[in-house]
Amino acid sequence: MEERLQKILARAGVASRRKAEELILQGRIAVDGKVVTELGAKADPAAATITLDGRPVAAEEKIYLLLNKPAGYVTTLSDPQGRPIVTDLLTGIRQRVFPVGRLDYDTEGALILTNDGQLAHFILHPGYEVNKTYFAVVKGSPSKDKIDRLREGIVLDGRRTWPARVRVVAREKGATTMEITIHEGKKRQVRRMLAEIGHPVITLKRTAYGNLELGALPPGSYRRLTKKELKKVFSGKIPFTFKKLPD
Ligand code: URA
Repeated sequence: MEERLQKILARAGVASRRKAEELILQGRIAVDGKVVTELGAKADPAAATITLDGRPVAAEEKIYLLLNKPAGYVTTLSDPQGRPIVTDLLTGIRQRVFPVGRLDYDTEGALILTNDGQLAHFILHPGYEVNKTYFAVVKGSPSKDKIDRLREGIVLDGRRTWPARVRVVAREKGATTMEITIHEGKKRQVRRMLAEIGHPVITLKRTAYGNLELGALPPGSYRRLTKKELKKVFSGKIPFTFKKLPD
């Protein structure tokens, strides 16, 4: 995500914003090797190499959080309707983080937040097929045929979804709890798949990214993820080295 250079420099501890503006005007700051002298210039701190007098400015410390998102929050960074946003739940986090993928306003559960654009890309890129697992409580009692339709893929927006892994966890009077694992991220995908088979969602919760489980984290709470835990997201298919990450 692009931000004004003076803001990035200030956050990296190079200088105050005012001082950073002077450095820019003096032609001492370069982005990817090109000197920048406009005060309005922007860069993506996660992707660009920013230098002061030719020396790279220390990149912002990477941070990886796992939040148990409660229902009633949006995962965008601002909301025109003024609803609460997930980053309101973070206190004492200096870095500007963004959610990796979305969860609907009404959906709860595991949400990774980070300032690492590369990691977010790998988690969201369909080529890495990172599984996301959901617990869905649905209306009624889906038959085996209907569950098989989910397993075979459901046509949404004219395209068939990838086969889902589905397990019935509990059947109660009027409702069924199912565990569903998919690796795509179409808008409201699980809700729409279940609506298509005639069993609309009552509640939906994401319980895991790959083999990284939400566990007992209370709703509204978050914790930092370790390198070992991040590896679990990719279930062994790790797309890049984790050299720079803390253990
Ligand atoms: N599928 C949905 O329908 N909603 C979510 O929030 C996530 C996946």
